[in-house]
Amino acid sequence: MSKMHLGLSMRGIGYHPSGWRDPEVQLDGAIDIAHSISVAQIAEQGLFDFVFLADQSALNFNDEPKGAFGRNQEGAGEFEPITLLAALSQVTTHIGLIATASTTFHQPYQLARKFLSLDHLSGGRAGWNVVTSSRNAEAQNFGADAILPKNERYERAKEAIEVAFGLWECWEPDAYIRDRQNGFFFDPAKLHRLDHKGLNFRVRGPLTMPRSPQGRPVIAQAGASADGLDFAASVADIIYAVQTRMEGAKSFYTDTKARVLAKGRNPADVKVLPGLLPVVGSTMEEAQRKYRAMLTHLDPVLGLERLSRFFGDLTGCDLDGPLPDLRTDLPLVSRASLNLRIAREQNWTIRQLYEETIISHGHHVAIGTPEIIADEMQTWVQQGAADGFNIVPALLPQSLTDFVTHVVPELQRRNLFRTEYSAKTLREHLGLPAIKPPNRSHHESGE
Ligand SMILES: Cc1cc2nc3c(=O)[nH]c(=O)nc-3n(C[C@H](O)[C@H](O)[C@H](O)COP(=O)(O)O)c2cc1C
Repeated sequence: MSKMHLGLSMRGIGYHPSGWRDPEVQLDGAIDIAHSISVAQIAEQGLFDFVFLADQSALNFNDEPKGAFGRNQEGAGEFEPITLLAALSQVTTHIGLIATASTTFHQPYQLARKFLSLDHLSGGRAGWNVVTSSRNAEAQNFGADAILPKNERYERAKEAIEVAFGLWECWEPDAYIRDRQNGFFFDPAKLHRLDHKGLNFRVRGPLTMPRSPQGRPVIAQAGASADGLDFAASVADIIYAVQTRMEGAKSFYTDTKARVLAKGRNPADVKVLPGLLPVVGSTMEEAQRKYRAMLTHLDPVLGLERLSRFFGDLTGCDLDGPLPDLRTDLPLVSRASLNLRIAREQNWTIRQLYEETIISHGHHVAIGTPEIIADEMQTWVQQGAADGFNIVPALLPQSLTDFVTHVVPELQRRNLFRTEYSAKTLREHLGLPAIKPPNRSHHESGE
């Protein structure tokens, strides 16, 4: 069996919105480069395929219910992902570096340039989590009042990726001859302009950098809607998923691989990585205790704030009473409806729903000993529910250290995970085939 792939969502001081109240968590860690370096290096010691930085282009201003605003550490003081990864590229040697950037707000020329630059800085370890964004607050930072409709955002994303892929191939692999003798730095016949003219973008090209050390940066995507899934199946190398049960994960996996095949691509060349939030203990009781202790830091008002994104303001509702109906006019409904379906099956109360989903952001929570967590990961991979996992840590670096110290060796013992890096680039870590340059006739004019 091929080995599993592991990524780390390394945002800030972890995903627990009140994690900063734990005395062991560094309060200003999210904006301290030493903290980020330490996290990336622990992930590299754990031989992770990559670290990944999620990102949104606006603060969450939601103050429903009143008093929630100002309590959430999420996004409130953190680095811009591409610049942070540029710094981390210099203190790591193997681990992949994936940043989020939105095609809704940025021009593809800029994006293609930045990611290719990160790829050169890191020796072929860059990846781009392509998002289309979803919030009006983000649009309001880029000259608009409201976010574009989803179908238009994905149309734009498709064209942006077409431009980026084109720009990344403007220079043939051997274009830079740097021939001192004859005085040619590059061979103009091996440089091609893009001259893209589309509905959303006009881009002449080329970029001012050679081709990527790994062919092109790796593309990650996490679409959940019909438009999003179609886009991911067309272009992504990594597809993130939110699945809390193996059965659901299996059907998502099978459906995604079928979509990839329908696009004329090899399903094995796209890695499906559901999120997993591990809580590791030396016994099941210790792990449960750890999890309950994390929840004690959680202010109920923050729990309700998170739920208000899907249900509207729940002020006045009985926290230990039944769940209301979903508001379909609010964004990110796909993830909420998955959690809600499970909540309804289990007869959860409002409190149970936010406690189950807030720290993990709706991802699967695996609580237990290293053996129990490894069992679960093994089963998901062997049953065709995942190619690996995107580890979502509650607290950083604590949750990562626990995972790397205890779960990684268990996975290695079972021959499910690498025991050393056998390659240098992210594309190679993921076992993806090399990107062949386009076939060109050399009479095409260069620049
Ligand atoms: C693991 C994961 C990470 C994501 N990271 C981001 C992010 O950093 N920024 C963002 O705007 N959206 C992010 N998303 C949202 C997705 O890009 C996507 O919009 C969402 O899953 C809903 O799918 P849809 O766009 O097809 O409706 C993420 C989703 C998942 C599952």
